[in-house]
Amino acid sequence: MTHSIQETTVAAETDEDKRRKNGLYRQVSAELAENMKRGWADTERYGLQPIAQAAHTARRRAELSARFPGELLVIPAGGPKVRANDTAYPFRPSSDYVYLTGDQSPDAVLVLEPDPYGGHRATAYLLPRSDRENGDFWLDYHGELWDGRRNSLAENGQLLGLPCNDVRTLTDRLGATIGAARVLRGHDMGIEAALAARTTAERDDEFRVTLSEMRLVKDEFEIADLRFACEATALGFEDAVRALGTAAPTPERLIEGTFFTRARIEGNDVGYASICAAGPHATTLHWVRNDGEARPGDLLLLDAGVETRHLYTADVTRTLPVDGRFTPIQRKIYDAVYAAQEAGIAAVKPGAAYRDFHDAAQRVLAEHLAAWGLFEGRSAREAHDLGLQRRWTLAGTGHMLGLDVHDCAKARTELYVDGTLEPGMVLTVEPGLYFQSDDLTVPQEYRGIGVRIEDDILVTEEGNENLSARLPRNADDVEAWMARLRG
Ligand code: GLY
Ligand code: MN
Ligand code: MN
Repeated sequence: MTHSIQETTVAAETDEDKRRKNGLYRQVSAELAENMKRGWADTERYGLQPIAQAAHTARRRAELSARFPGELLVIPAGGPKVRANDTAYPFRPSSDYVYLTGDQSPDAVLVLEPDPYGGHRATAYLLPRSDRENGDFWLDYHGELWDGRRNSLAENGQLLGLPCNDVRTLTDRLGATIGAARVLRGHDMGIEAALAARTTAERDDEFRVTLSEMRLVKDEFEIADLRFACEATALGFEDAVRALGTAAPTPERLIEGTFFTRARIEGNDVGYASICAAGPHATTLHWVRNDGEARPGDLLLLDAGVETRHLYTADVTRTLPVDGRFTPIQRKIYDAVYAAQEAGIAAVKPGAAYRDFHDAAQRVLAEHLAAWGLFEGRSAREAHDLGLQRRWTLAGTGHMLGLDVHDCAKARTELYVDGTLEPGMVLTVEPGLYFQSDDLTVPQEYRGIGVRIEDDILVTEEGNENLSARLPRNADDVEAWMARLRG
């Protein structure tokens, strides 16, 4: 099998290597080989109901088909990434494959073959059940005896609502087709090589962009799942508050582990590495080392999101006073960020420019920074026009959210950053202020304080809905909520 880097590596192994991996250090006797073939019940399942999103994935495939008439379209799930030797990182399929199938199998491939009568015929190419006759189910390192039972192709056909075929036949099948093709690159080098003569980098880029843009407006299944992700994330934040000591320091990793436990129970995983940033770590936007301690008197910036079992993720930040009460300076900075977030959220509505919520939040932050005298006498307006607030606001104010935490990242600027908000879009609004510990341009008492408040906002017909509203945002509500949780 040559359809992924990983499989190519495996194929190069000798039978002895494979046996050794499975702990089968000795040659398998003919008697054992024969014995292992027999005595297994037929567990095939019939009459399965399609997965909840099957109607949606069918519509998405039809939309994709209409955009590329007459062309062969190939969307691989990708395979497990090697961590070391025979150990892999937890597998997560490519988001576009999930979007179009609802399936999460490793090394799977969705193929849309142009139909001579118009449209495309979609087939999911998947690994079938392990063969018992040739011993694959136990002699192969990834046989079902070791990795667990897989759905049969017929079962997957019922579940996914689309024909399924053996992925090991895919290279031959592709060879039997003709004409222009497009591949979602970066997931399966074997397929890219097999279709190299029929694709171009430019056309494949266009394909990737289209897939990203299709995901800009969420359907009702996606919105329901993002809502669930936010609810589960709120539970994770509650767990984190309960784990946070009021007297002794709490390791950032305890917070990380606490949230992760909730993510695994309610969903699939965390949607990105949790940022558990205590004290001055909060001023480091990508703080994922999480090797510090949250001490009473400090703030804890917790940026974390549960990824659901359908692989949609929340992306939420709360900045919490570890001992339950903001100090006056912490509250002053927190209130400024809260005011900016209020302005940002209010700017999220259908027909608004995407940039509006960012501009609204940045203006409010600039006003506060000017009032605190941080612009050396320049007005808030002047400072904002020059972007001077960015020394302390650092990042953009938000991004699209969905299957990926930074969803729709390949969408063209004119449809995304320079685009217009539409009902069904989901985005984060996450202003922040970050005063580095060594920033000599701000008063000493500001240094080492970082505050971000991040919520997941659905654009509705009327305006917006905060999907993460279950978590308190303003300083008083945060304090009351923490007190309640700690009983
Ligand atoms: N947690 C990543 C972000 O807020 O964009
Ligand atoms: Mn975040
Ligand atoms: Mn975010």
